[in-house]
Amino acid sequence: MSHEVVEKNIGLMAVLILIVISIGGLVEIVPLMYARDTTEPAPGVEPYPAIEFAGRDVYVSEGCYGCHSQQIRPFRAETERYGDYSVAGDFVYDRPFQWGSKRTGPDLARVGGVYTDDWHYVHLINPRDVVPQSNMPAYPWLAERTVNAEQVARSMRAQQKYLGVPYTEEDIAAADALEGVTEMEALIAYLQGLGVPGGAN
Ligand code: HEC
Repeated sequence: MSHEVVEKNIGLMAVLILIVISIGGLVEIVPLMYARDTTEPAPGVEPYPAIEFAGRDVYVSEGCYGCHSQQIRPFRAETERYGDYSVAGDFVYDRPFQWGSKRTGPDLARVGGVYTDDWHYVHLINPRDVVPQSNMPAYPWLAERTVNAEQVARSMRAQQKYLGVPYTEEDIAAADALEGVTEMEALIAYLQGLGVPGGAN
């Protein structure tokens, strides 16, 4: 078939383009459906314990993802600063994932253990107290509000039942102990578990 025939017949060209794109798409998509490393947790990645689960909800509701990514790219400048680059298996229990789309602040995928709990506390109450040039907002109310233990338990159960997160009854019962825990404590527990094998708690 000569080029001329294809170039002068837009219908035929559209069909051929569709065939080429479909093959290209299938070659990329189908192997992912069978690749275990995209659905199996990476070594050390476990479901979030109740307190980190609660902290993660705070992270989402405060919109921290608007300024922070949780996705380390495989470039030297990134891995030297943040640690190992992220792989699909890091996110199997992140629902919804917190990759973010923009970095006004640093990536947080492996921030666990980098600072002390006290540092995070001061930083969240007023970032300028520890990083004078920071433009991160202050979140003083987190120290006053408490998490809704019952709702955390319900969300954990929903993830177990409908999304297949392997929580045990014991894991979910641990949410009862969150009665009276502040959003600040939960958020700090979540941050301290980020990128730490097995979580921090
Ligand atoms: C308007 C953008 C913005 C928002 C929203 C924001 N941050 Fe930040 N964050 C920054 C910037 C800029 C820095 C770097 C300066 C500093 O450390 O304060 C930072 C730094 C941090 C650090 C230290 C990271 C490191 O590696 O040094 C943590 C932890 C952090 N933010 C957590 C949070 C959490 C949790 C929230 C939501 C409650 C949040 N941030 C919301 C902009 C933001």
